[in-house]
Amino acid sequence: MRIPHDLLPAGVVIAVERSDDADLDVRAAAVGIEVYAADLHPKRQREFLAGRLAARTALQQMQAHTLAVGRDGNAPIWPAGFCGSISHGADLAAAIAAPSPSWRSLGLDIEARIGTNRMRALRFALSDDEMRICEASADPWAWTRYWSAKEAVFKCCAALGHRPTLQSLQPAWRDTGHGTVDVVISNTALRIDLVGGVADEAMWMIASMRDATADLPDETARPAVAGFEIVSPLQTGAENAQGFAQLGANGTAAA
Ligand SMILES: CC(C)(COP(=O)(O)OP(=O)(O)OC[C@H]1O[C@@H](n2cnc3c(N)ncnc32)[C@H](O)[C@@H]1OP(=O)(O)O)[C@@H](O)C(=O)NCCC(=O)NCCS
Repeated sequence: MRIPHDLLPAGVVIAVERSDDADLDVRAAAVGIEVYAADLHPKRQREFLAGRLAARTALQQMQAHTLAVGRDGNAPIWPAGFCGSISHGADLAAAIAAPSPSWRSLGLDIEARIGTNRMRALRFALSDDEMRICEASADPWAWTRYWSAKEAVFKCCAALGHRPTLQSLQPAWRDTGHGTVDVVISNTALRIDLVGGVADEAMWMIASMRDATADLPDETARPAVAGFEIVSPLQTGAENAQGFAQLGANGTAAA
């Protein structure tokens, strides 16, 4: 999967693992990563191990002392001093991590292209306005962009103990790769930034909430990305740009 390095929020690192890697079990066992239940479906076992291995790599890049990511219900528990997020795609898992409190929370989603074949799920997640926008759009990734943004923002919020409905999370897009979602958590209005794109036929989306007072790392001082080929410019293609122009014409582009 190819994600342009310079699109990642400053201080955020990303790592990816193939969940169909033949050595996955062995590599996970070697560093003490085990599945949380013996009767998990084999595919889910591989996803979980790959996600935890990716998280470990991301934490290693941040020079974290503790590399193990715990679990509370379904949610990952990051070592003290770090926040992060995990997602699984077709045959891969990815994790992002960043130092807290500079970053309050992160959410990652990786999603194969969603279309009207997932209408039930889309109706569950998208508002009527968002449904209309996607229906009118020529952008083949329009549905996925909304879905993925909501999933990433949900994880970002859930890590702070807030579990919003997906419909309530309404992205305002600045362009095909950038947006914001405003949320209220514990009576405080907060802004979550979105950055995403399409790489190798999958959408990636990162939701990040920064500490407003944080002195975030210099853009040029970011650690290298593990497992991602670094490319530039954004791999969304002219088709997407055209599609987004249409989204904008429908009045959704942020000012
Ligand atoms: C939690 C949720 C966002 C996971 O997304 P998904 O597309 O199913 O799966 P992904 O592969 O992208 O992400 C899975 C990872 O999300 C993380 N995750 C799960 N629950 C989480 C939570 N409450 N907070 C933060 N991260 C969470 C886990 O790390 C998990 O991987 P792991 O189990 O291997 O550690 C999704 O299932 C969800 O519940 N979404 C919205 C809430 C909602 O309305 N649910 C009803 C759906 S019918």
